[in-house]
Amino acid sequence: MIENYEIEINNIMINYMCALKILEAQIEVINDEFQYKYNHNPIEHIKTRVKSVDSIMKKLEKYKIDFSIDNIVNNIFDIIGARIVCSFKSDIYEIVNIIKTSSCLEVVEEKDYIKNPKESGYSSYHLIVNVPVYLSTGIIKVKAEIQIRTIAMDFWASLEHKLKYKFSKKLPDNIKKELVDSSKIIDDLDNRMNYIKELVSKY
Ligand code: GTP
Ligand code: MG
Repeated sequence: MIENYEIEINNIMINYMCALKILEAQIEVINDEFQYKYNHNPIEHIKTRVKSVDSIMKKLEKYKIDFSIDNIVNNIFDIIGARIVCSFKSDIYEIVNIIKTSSCLEVVEEKDYIKNPKESGYSSYHLIVNVPVYLSTGIIKVKAEIQIRTIAMDFWASLEHKLKYKFSKKLPDNIKKELVDSSKIIDDLDNRMNYIKELVSKY
């Protein structure tokens, strides 16, 4: 039997699906603009996803928020998300600037986990944006999370996610340390590749 809350959530999912299409198109535009401006294609790949009803419910639970459509819309900003994986660290900041100056996407929140990595060692640039959706009834603004990271950061985040899956609560300290140490190697590698890119550009 489909629960009541599921029917209610499904009613707003259409807005999120439409917003995701617009977000995907806008990221394509950013890539084209970047290619034109800097003569290289910064984006290695893009992944988009819609949060499952189950994950939405779990997030409400995690933050002890009562179930209501208003509470979901006003508190959960990553129901739709895009992950932009690019080549070099410097590309990330260029992409962020293009998004910030874009008239389509309005940045409402940003977190630089590259300058300030999470305790886990996680590193990426996160933006929460408003995506305008033009419905027959008018324009609505839908929130979306954009994560921007290098291939190396993506490699670390994917493997770390896999490795910690087994531990539902706290990671043992030695494993935590290994992961943080490896994230520093990743950052060092990103800096070196960025430096080589600068050297190459002088030729
Ligand atoms: P949420 O409660 O999920 O919103 O977390 P938060 O508010 O502490 O962090 P934020 O919203 O900035 O980032 C959440 C997202 O970033 C997650 O859904 C993951 O995709 C990613 N993320 C954050 N921390 C980690 C981490 O330690 N490891 C990995 N692999 N991914 C992370
Ligand atoms: Mg969050």
